[in-house]
Amino acid sequence: MVIPEQKIEEIRAAANIYDFISPHIALRKRGRNYIGLCPFHNEKTPSFTVSEEKQIFHCFGCHAGGNVYRFIMDYQKISFIEAVQDVAKQVGISVEVTQTEQTEGPSEQEMLYDVNTIAARYFLENLLNAPEGETARKYFENRKIKLSTIRTFGLGYALPAWEAFINFARDKNIELNKAVQLGLIGKTNEGRLYDKFSGRIIFPIFSSTGRVIAFGGRILENRENTAKYLNSPESVVYTKGRVLYGLSHAKDDIRKLNKAILVEGYMDLISLHQAGVKNVVAVSGTALTEEQVQLLSRYTKNVVLLFDADAAGMKAAMRSIELLLQRDMEIKIASLPSGEDPDSYVNTYGKQAFEKIIDRAQNFLEYQTDYFQKQGLFNEPSTTADAIRELMKPVALIQDELKRSLLIKTIAKKFNLREMLLEDELRKTLAGHQREDQIEAKRRKNVESKVLAEILPADKQIPQHIFNLEVELIKLLFEGSEKVVELIVHHINDEMLLSEANAAIFNEVAEAYNADADLTAGALIGRIKDEKIQQYISNITLEKYSISKMWEELHPDEVRGNILEKYTKDVLCKYKHAHLDENAKEFYLEMENAQNDDDKIIIMKRLRELNREKQLISDELL
Ligand code: GTP
Ligand code: MN
Repeated sequence: MVIPEQKIEEIRAAANIYDFISPHIALRKRGRNYIGLCPFHNEKTPSFTVSEEKQIFHCFGCHAGGNVYRFIMDYQKISFIEAVQDVAKQVGISVEVTQTEQTEGPSEQEMLYDVNTIAARYFLENLLNAPEGETARKYFENRKIKLSTIRTFGLGYALPAWEAFINFARDKNIELNKAVQLGLIGKTNEGRLYDKFSGRIIFPIFSSTGRVIAFGGRILENRENTAKYLNSPESVVYTKGRVLYGLSHAKDDIRKLNKAILVEGYMDLISLHQAGVKNVVAVSGTALTEEQVQLLSRYTKNVVLLFDADAAGMKAAMRSIELLLQRDMEIKIASLPSGEDPDSYVNTYGKQAFEKIIDRAQNFLEYQTDYFQKQGLFNEPSTTADAIRELMKPVALIQDELKRSLLIKTIAKKFNLREMLLEDELRKTLAGHQREDQIEAKRRKNVESKVLAEILPADKQIPQHIFNLEVELIKLLFEGSEKVVELIVHHINDEMLLSEANAAIFNEVAEAYNADADLTAGALIGRIKDEKIQQYISNITLEKYSISKMWEELHPDEVRGNILEKYTKDVLCKYKHAHLDENAKEFYLEMENAQNDDDKIIIMKRLRELNREKQLISDELL
């Protein structure tokens, strides 16, 4: 499958990178750029930067970076071509795909999706029609799951045999190693293959767009020494922490009701959905992750946590609260009578009773304070102090000052706590956070220089000040100014650039300039295929202390275009001088070793020429 380069660039130019990132990541404006929490690594303070101006993104924490295509490829784990098609569809440009003689066929990911889809159909068929499926049918009947619900969630049954799925897969010409990759088939130490989900009830796990990406499998009867639930391993199409079970079924209702109920288990979600409560998603087993919160925040800011009333559920709730608060979510917590879970509760008491529980949900601070009070922590001054410290931790995560103080007032009143006490504690916690931010910034800086060294390994011999100026010039090439690019292309050639990576980048930009092509960073970065070099470019172009900023401060009255050009000339001049100074250094060395005066005179002459050359450069540029 081939899409012409020109078309790829046309599509990219029609897309605004912000529109493609903002649905997935909460972005805040900071200066010219947007920042948010990076989806590619775990972080508490945002280092993920998006520039609308330059049409690129970069994470200063993990160094992911590139243009809109790179983001979509990495975020959705799809191929380059798929990313281009995805963007094309959204910006309304049709891509006539020129089929080459030998078509490449579907991508690796597509094939894995297909295997999962075929497997899911097979499991469903077993559940509905296989004679051995009777026990499974009985099981769902006992759990009051209707046939229509089974179909809605594509539930299934894996026959209790070692090779039932394997044989089916062979029949269907499925590549067995793909099924092994997806965890449908297991491999013993001796290399024997076996059905992984054998004898289990199957819950297909869907992506938010409704594709089967993994499976959960539950044993029919609780047995000791056997995990109740077995889950697919992570694969090219499945990242555990990035999926919320049931989201594809729930998203419309979540949007409509502007509220999501978060439960723990597959069966909880399914029973609620069957009962008509459809704005539900499940974390299913793992602790809630940053990415799951991000995903959910695309649909609503209002979340009701409904975790088991036991201590473990309580703990899970507390951890989740922190993550949700960092995303600016409105959190409420509902609790069920002890011994019940949402599935059992809704089956016993019905939808209306369940909705009452949701309506009575408390805000998280109330909930936690309540819990502490029940434990008797407010009976003594010493435990009260500890409890208040604990309470203020999550409050400190709320960005909005007004919201914070409102919460504190309510709690103080309701639980008879002194407002001042709460405020003092909050101030202390906030001060602590600020220190952490500073430490994080320092750490990041160290990592940064290490990564730069890694990206440019062959360039260690280059004198540091020359290298810095080179980087400055490369940065300028990505400022999106034709005039600046023109200046640099006319004054520099790739042989002057001592770093290979910089020379390669320079050549690409020069080519784009000569071809009259788009010179925005997002377009230029797309011409470079090496991922590491892409990261390097996005890094230097989005660095916090941008060149222009410094110059704007020095020359507050100049318009931006003028400043950039002046600055470019300044850097070019310094860079050329630096090269000549290196030559001069050699002459000085020769001078020391010179045998006679004649030699010395020749060298001095050359030195004078160098100086004249420097002067000429200054005259021309400054
Ligand atoms: P039922 O017993 O079928 O009603 O399931 P449940 O959802 O009530 O189970 P439980 O409350 O024990 O667990 C909640 C969720 O945690 C489940 O839906 C699973 O996603 C997960 N879970 C429970 N047990 C296991 C296990 O043994 N292994 C794994 N990987 N996950 C589990
Ligand atoms: Mn249950």
